[in-house]
Amino acid sequence: MVIIQNQEVSLFTTADEIPEKFRLPSPINQREYLIGGELRHWEGEVEKVFSPIHIHSGSGLTPVVIGEFPLFTEEESLACLQAAVDAYDRGRGLWATMSVSQRIERVQDFAYRMKAKRDEVVKILMWEICKSYADSQKEFDRTLDYISDTIDALKNLDRVSSRFEITGGVIGQIRRAPLGVVLCMGPSNYPLNETFTTLIPALIMGNTVVIKSPRPGTLLLYPLLEAFRDAFPPGVVNTVYGSGRTVTPPLMMSGQVDALAFIGSSRAANSLEKQHPQPHRLRLILGLEAKNPGVILPSADLELSVRECLLGTLSYNGQRCTALKILFVHRQIADKFLELFAAAVNALKIGLPWDEGVQITPLGEPGKTQYFSDLVEDARKFGAEVVNTGGGEVDKTFFHPAVVYPVNERMRIYHEEQFGPVIPIVPYDDLSTPIDYIVNSNYGQQVSIFGEDGSAIADLIDPLVNQVCRVNINSQCQRGPDSFPFTGRKDSAVGTLSVSDALRSFSIRTLVAAKENPANTSLITEILRERKSNFLSTDFIL
Ligand code: G3H
Repeated sequence: MVIIQNQEVSLFTTADEIPEKFRLPSPINQREYLIGGELRHWEGEVEKVFSPIHIHSGSGLTPVVIGEFPLFTEEESLACLQAAVDAYDRGRGLWATMSVSQRIERVQDFAYRMKAKRDEVVKILMWEICKSYADSQKEFDRTLDYISDTIDALKNLDRVSSRFEITGGVIGQIRRAPLGVVLCMGPSNYPLNETFTTLIPALIMGNTVVIKSPRPGTLLLYPLLEAFRDAFPPGVVNTVYGSGRTVTPPLMMSGQVDALAFIGSSRAANSLEKQHPQPHRLRLILGLEAKNPGVILPSADLELSVRECLLGTLSYNGQRCTALKILFVHRQIADKFLELFAAAVNALKIGLPWDEGVQITPLGEPGKTQYFSDLVEDARKFGAEVVNTGGGEVDKTFFHPAVVYPVNERMRIYHEEQFGPVIPIVPYDDLSTPIDYIVNSNYGQQVSIFGEDGSAIADLIDPLVNQVCRVNINSQCQRGPDSFPFTGRKDSAVGTLSVSDALRSFSIRTLVAAKENPANTSLITEILRERKSNFLSTDFIL
């Protein structure tokens, strides 16, 4: 039970009340995994997947079991890696040496097959990580858009590389080539989109891939396994399941992973990197933690600031790496801001993912509600209060968003990345408070500044662009549009992931060069005319 508008209500439901369209006809008991182009049957241990959604039944309120997936041991994990290593064949494999246009065709074919699975994947997203119907659809559609934008970006890149350069008597053709085997590990909060924003560029550049899916966030990839198998040559995509602690160290320790694409904590990323016997051979593309601050200046338009801060702090319950995770509000306007913000938080619709217009849903990761309650309790000990009615109430996996004020540096919530619906608000008198916070922070992803005084904002932009990688003005922090560079400083990221930057991240420049003389010119002309090479080619992709 939680209190909403002064009433105690239960946010869960009975099985009969679930709209027909959103029911799972039967549990998704995954017994296959993709290895070397084959969907192999799994006979070993499995992990049960519990949805964060609870159902009222005769025996009380119980979590729904939505399926199971394989729990690999080291042996199967290494077998999947070997399949990727064999398919890459030290750069001599079919996929790595294929022409760019042929790889594009395969990725287009995959996108076509993926589209057919939209309803299934969206429904599992809703049950597995409790993303609202609207946001689950958005995640799927945005991923398909990302694929077609990636194809366009690669065509552009290839067009530029389809010509020769002649400098200082040397003739050369410079292109981008794959790195090798990529281990792709996406996060639980965007298990489809963020996995694919590394997977697709890695694939299209000619790498072979091992996907280790997140927990939660595994089952929703199951309907796509056939599409992977049918669209790509054997061994180009392989899937690994189970506990990260069991299945990933052997992969890294083998020294056969050439690039690690990981979205998660810097602690886990460090430990994975250290397990590689030759870390200098490992390319890292990492999206890590962040604690993006919002700074509300005295000149801010309060209604607009509240609107954007609400989106920034609580979209998908605040479970976004780009979420605003701490708000600094000038003391002159703090009371008014708090009043408007607390009212706006309490007006958000709380419910289940299929409820029309729902904004706050149950939390996907086990143990999260207790963690948030502990953060609130700790803040109380040091003088803060929850300023919105019902804030911090818990009903199983629901956590009623808590606006915590006044927050100071003695509280855990001031420092820790909460990744959920607790919103710390710090009053400030002098801008040195938020600036020092940002300078001394371990994170450096983004910041949002709210205000209407151009000089004050300009004074903040110049120092802040050197602290973070995106300064948002009167707008929440966010990753999109995907053509913009998405990266961070310090413990927040390694590498950059816009559509076009990702193509660079998963490839290396390599070239063919020759001294310009009649013999070489005629040799190159022969190779081109008779289309003897996929690399040395002036084909222009339209
Ligand atoms: O979890 C981090 C995501 O990349 C955030 O993406 O800003 O589009 O929600 P978003």
